[in-house]
Amino acid sequence: MGRARQSIARHRCAYDEKAKTVNPKTQWWPVALSHELRNAPLACQVYDMPLVLFRAEKGRPAALPDRCPHRFAQLSLGKVRDGSIECPYHGWRFAADGRCTRVPGVDLTRCSKPLLDSLPICEAHGLVWVSLGVEEPPQPPVAPAVNQQLDTFWITDQIRCSQQDAAENFLDGFHTHFVHAGWIRRDKKRQRISVRVRPLTDGIEAIYSEEGKQSGLISQLFERKRGSSMGRFRLPGLLEVEYRDHRDGLNLLVSVWLTPCGDQVRLFARIATAHDWLPAALKRSVLRRFFRVILRQDRHILEQVSANIRRFEASPVRPLDSPQDLLGPDIRVLLKQGRAQSFEERHFDFWL
Ligand code: FES
Ligand SMILES: [Fe+2]
Repeated sequence: MGRARQSIARHRCAYDEKAKTVNPKTQWWPVALSHELRNAPLACQVYDMPLVLFRAEKGRPAALPDRCPHRFAQLSLGKVRDGSIECPYHGWRFAADGRCTRVPGVDLTRCSKPLLDSLPICEAHGLVWVSLGVEEPPQPPVAPAVNQQLDTFWITDQIRCSQQDAAENFLDGFHTHFVHAGWIRRDKKRQRISVRVRPLTDGIEAIYSEEGKQSGLISQLFERKRGSSMGRFRLPGLLEVEYRDHRDGLNLLVSVWLTPCGDQVRLFARIATAHDWLPAALKRSVLRRFFRVILRQDRHILEQVSANIRRFEASPVRPLDSPQDLLGPDIRVLLKQGRAQSFEERHFDFWL
């Protein structure tokens, strides 16, 4: 059995009955924006598995281990020819199902058995998704809360930190006064808010009310009076922040899918706003700049924190949770178990 085969085989059981946990590796993980995957192969990684993506016949997406079975050249450095991926070393070609279709200089009748294990792959919500399981996951890829009639654009990035830390950071309002001072909130202009935290069938949600107009730049520019906002985490790795006006109309929906990728997380952020009188191109251009700044600030603090966690790796002391860590401890449990649990709705009042 090849190394890739063994590695995939390790991830094949989707549900561990004894531990009552779901194996996250067998879920759908986004690996590329659909429009990024064209005629050339794309390299990506899910957990510890390097993969190559390409478009096979009729434009169908395909995913194989990024390793030629011959001498282990990186297939992602090759080319796509006639719906197969061609290795850059000796030109062997592989179809979407992992069968070898050509060995140059040798008369080859088509291989009867795949030389590479192909992976389940699909396209949904503007993304290409892959699973490390044998079969397609029973649940479809996790969808954004609102999917229609919105002006949307994408930002992608990669951060050297854990999925847990990235998820917690994105949904934590209490760092915004410091890491994004003036951009999202100001420490000296806090407002009294009430928060409800409730379980979702596949995650957890915090609903913030009575936030009024925010002190940050982007809110001043783009937001009508805020009625409520939601921060939610859904398994296996969708984070959302949703801002609604006082008539419950959508102001902004940011959906971020996080894919574990070695010691990093790959991030696919979809920024969506309701159609309004502002031209979509103008909104996109201003919001893109804004979110790039915010993301750079978050990447900076998250990578610093991860490096510092590594410096204290030998220490038995663990990070300390406080009441302001509204979702972080639950996200930790959700990620560990791979499935949601029910709990009583919780209420808090804060100065945010
Ligand atoms: S290493 Fe791929 S064809 Fe030789
Ligand atoms: Fe942040």
